[in-house]
Amino acid sequence: MRKLLYLVFLSGLIACKDKPEVKKEDVTQRDEPFQLYQMSEMAAFMENMYVDHQRIKGEIMAGKKVDTLHYDLSKLFYARMTDSTDRDAEYESMAKLYVEYEEQLVGDSLQQKETFNKAINMCISCHQKKCTGPIPRIKKLLIR
Ligand code: HEC
Repeated sequence: MRKLLYLVFLSGLIACKDKPEVKKEDVTQRDEPFQLYQMSEMAAFMENMYVDHQRIKGEIMAGKKVDTLHYDLSKLFYARMTDSTDRDAEYESMAKLYVEYEEQLVGDSLQQKETFNKAINMCISCHQKKCTGPIPRIKKLLIR
């Protein structure tokens, strides 16, 4: 029984999948109720990237020129992941394309909205392959 509870609990840790419901009773029966979810370095980095894109979206919509990213793009290539097998050739090639769009975004002031949306669509493409859970949140970043 403990093992089963543990499995249910573990599946709740996998942020990439759509969150399975972890019942309250299961959680409170754990020995360490306060260590619920340890984010990987990559997940924490992705959250930074998310917040920065909320800022960028706001600036573009206000007609400002965005010329800097407030997060470290290179982490996409080395941050530790929850599941290191996600970092395969497909991941690398999507990450490179995404980086190209981000560089275009800060380099070019004319097509910022279009380039921003291309970058966000790359977030979504990679997530469709690697990590579907956050897609609804990411879609909200798109500038309509
Ligand atoms: C090349 C692939 C790729 C790209 C591009 C990408 N992601 Fe991710 N993202 C991942 C992977 C893989 C994870 C899972 C990381 C982990 O759990 O270690 C993740 C996790 C996340 C998470 C969940 C973090 C958590 O709380 O567990 C969010 C939110 C996120 N990404 C947002 C974004 C946003 C926003 C963008 C674009 C601005 C983006 N991602 C671009 C692959 C990508």
